[in-house]
Amino acid sequence: MDTLIPAPVSASPAPAEDFAVTAATAVHATDDAAPVAEHLAEVLRAGTGHPVPVLAGPAPGGAIALVLDAAAVPHPEGYRLSVTSRSVTLTGSTPAGLFAGVQTLRQLLPARAGTEWVVAGGEVRDQPRFAHRGAMLDVSRHFYTVAEVKRFIDQIAQYKLNVLHLHLTDDQGWRIEIRSWPRLATHGGSTQVGGGTGGHYTQEEYRDLVAYAASRHVTVIPEIDVPGHTTAALASYPELNADGVAPELFTARGNATGFSSLATGKEVTYRFVEDVLREVAALTPGEYLHLGTDETHATPEEGRLEFIDRVLPIVARLGKSVIGWHELLRSPGLPVSAVPQYWGRESSDPLMAAAVARGNRVLLSPAHKVYLDMKYDLSTPIGYKWAGCIDVADIYDWDPGTYMDGVPETAVLGVEGPLWSETLTSYADVEYMAFPRLAALAEVTWSPWSTHDWPGFAARLAAHGPRWEAQEVNFCRSPQIAWST
Ligand code: ACM
Repeated sequence: MDTLIPAPVSASPAPAEDFAVTAATAVHATDDAAPVAEHLAEVLRAGTGHPVPVLAGPAPGGAIALVLDAAAVPHPEGYRLSVTSRSVTLTGSTPAGLFAGVQTLRQLLPARAGTEWVVAGGEVRDQPRFAHRGAMLDVSRHFYTVAEVKRFIDQIAQYKLNVLHLHLTDDQGWRIEIRSWPRLATHGGSTQVGGGTGGHYTQEEYRDLVAYAASRHVTVIPEIDVPGHTTAALASYPELNADGVAPELFTARGNATGFSSLATGKEVTYRFVEDVLREVAALTPGEYLHLGTDETHATPEEGRLEFIDRVLPIVARLGKSVIGWHELLRSPGLPVSAVPQYWGRESSDPLMAAAVARGNRVLLSPAHKVYLDMKYDLSTPIGYKWAGCIDVADIYDWDPGTYMDGVPETAVLGVEGPLWSETLTSYADVEYMAFPRLAALAEVTWSPWSTHDWPGFAARLAAHGPRWEAQEVNFCRSPQIAWST
């Protein structure tokens, strides 16, 4: 109970009340709770080898019960967990709350399973601070397989992150099948940084990823980065270029950006964008489409403004809301539903404050705090340092609720840690940059600020090393943490 991450609102350990998972243990759940119960049962089966059936209806003694009760737990993602030597009762008002509680329950089990696996006794009450708790994975610069992205979803969900923002397109690769413009994936997705074979997700595979994420209560936000960051598209269709000439695919190592643009003055560009967004929206149960809009250095400003003016209504017609990197705020007349994602390094930005004053909510991803592609320290073999080195204490030690002038906590929809992948040639590299830092970010986004305490967090985090070892996660052993063995 004293090693939970993210820290819960309250926890009262009761060491005499540990609950043993045995060959007789069952998980009881009523209808809507059954999928979460099955998820918990799978974890317990895999750990212990016991059958752990999921049964309908109320629980007798000796069982684990998942209960939906909106009166008992007012927050939709909140939960109450009670562990005694006789039974475990997890109560939530929604399946999402129960799922969060299951992640807590998992952390109350020892890192290594066995035939008798013991849940630490006591009571936990909990609910999140921010609604949007995200990680971004750049699958453009290097491509990661469906299985790898599913593993990432499982890894972030264990820390109660609930959004996976997929950066699906960039200069170096187009990673999602678009049936009306097939060369985007077959040509634009055929390579990656350093010239590897790249890859793309078919629409079938992408639907499967989105459904898998939903089963982990994670919403996928697809990013189609326009009008810049578009070499993969421009190389696939010459007509999208201002001069009508397709460039070569771009595979150079390094983090060059801002050198490509869709031809904002051509009608075909808007047919292209509408077709792409229509197909992507049809694959997206979530509210948001992310349009990028960052680093449009190769787009004349007038063209950029026209482009945004014409694309915003397309997204609205598709029934979706827009997220864009904070450069989106250079466009006047954004709807209040539009969400700027701040990736700057200042604590003051007049356009952010003005958007908040108009009623927009914002995402915070300040690069020097949460860019997961920054090195931990100068000895980190991969990653960049243009926004500084970011060790665990740096990502932990900032308060999104007070971080920016004119952006009060109520205006902060949430926080996201972007993991750009120019230097991450394997999924092991992804894990190395994401962990342990995503655990720190999870606490910043989930836990009440009143629990914020670096020495306490560092001590709790140390106990997660053996969990990651048991799950074979290639985490970085930051020297800031006295890792447990
Ligand atoms: C960004 O880092 N260009 C959002």
